[in-house]
Amino acid sequence: MFRRLAGSIAANPIVYDLIQKSVGADVVNTRTARALALDRGWLVDVGAGTGLSPSLQPVGSRYLAIDVDARKLERLRAKQPAVSAVFGDGAAIPVGDASADALLVKAVLHHLDDGQLDSFVAEAARVLKPGASLVLSEPLWARGHWLGRLLWAGDRGSYPRSEAQLRGALEPRFQIRRWETFAILHRYLLAVAVPATQG
Ligand SMILES: C[S@@+](CC[C@H](N)C(=O)[O-])C[C@H]1O[C@@H](n2cnc3c(N)ncnc32)[C@H](O)[C@@H]1O
Repeated sequence: MFRRLAGSIAANPIVYDLIQKSVGADVVNTRTARALALDRGWLVDVGAGTGLSPSLQPVGSRYLAIDVDARKLERLRAKQPAVSAVFGDGAAIPVGDASADALLVKAVLHHLDDGQLDSFVAEAARVLKPGASLVLSEPLWARGHWLGRLLWAGDRGSYPRSEAQLRGALEPRFQIRRWETFAILHRYLLAVAVPATQG
């Protein structure tokens, strides 16, 4: 009952932005954005929510935000009218083959069940241009991390995963180029990977 009520309050995009700020999203966003080595072309943000702030979008690139939550996309459009914000599912990314110059997925994978996660990984490999990177930023499930476990109890995502589970999901189709973890309130993973066939 409490969880449902808290969930519906947190679903409000303005409340959602405030919560994200209070749990250290600015630090995670800045670290993640620095991993986006991009100076041209399309940055596709899957599960963009209310969007990456303009100051963190790589200069010279175009930003395409995709999400399954129409209310968050509305707030994104209100904040950044020039951004392309499209309703769409990470398990069936609504862009063409080899069309993205970088793909960002930040704090989204814990909303996907195992089947959707496998579909997302296949889709990510499909939509990236040759040589282009997937940048993955995700809070981690860590059994011994009590503060993280408390935060997971209030999270709307039902599929928190460990480092090993995320690596296992990526590796069939991606080569990992960077893999690091850090802690704020949660433990976080920041990874950069390229589709495996690109060597
Ligand atoms: C915790 S929020 C993260 C939003 C944003 N990436 C950020 O870091 O602020 C998770 C987002 O994933 C979106 N989402 C959940 N399932 C999705 C799916 N199957 N495809 C695309 N987006 C999804 C939710 O609507 C929500 O906006």
